Amino acid sequence: MPVLARTRARDRALSGHGTLMRQCLEAGLPVASSCSGRGACGRCMVAVLEGWGALTPMGAHESLVLRRNGAGEGVRLSCQCRLVEVHGPVVISVGYW
Ligand code: FES
Repeated sequence: MPVLARTRARDRALSGHGTLMRQCLEAGLPVASSCSGRGACGRCMVAVLEGWGALTPMGAHESLVLRRNGAGEGVRLSCQCRLVEVHGPVVISVGYW
């Protein structure tokens, strides 16, 4: 299980394929968005609780959108990152799960 989504109820295994946003949606977990995953709105932010280094590096555009939306440390745009290496689990969460 390379990617786990931590919800209030339990950890849910995601597929590990495609963007984190896509994996969540495929698993039936809602992801906030108003740009349909184009990296513009910043609403799809997820906290990366474990496994930060296993994700694609953050690009300048993602960094800018996160800053513009007041994101703290350890946050990624789920529509802009995907798993690239599996060393251990990547654990993500959002406050509304
Ligand atoms: S869905 Fe809009 S930035 Fe990710």
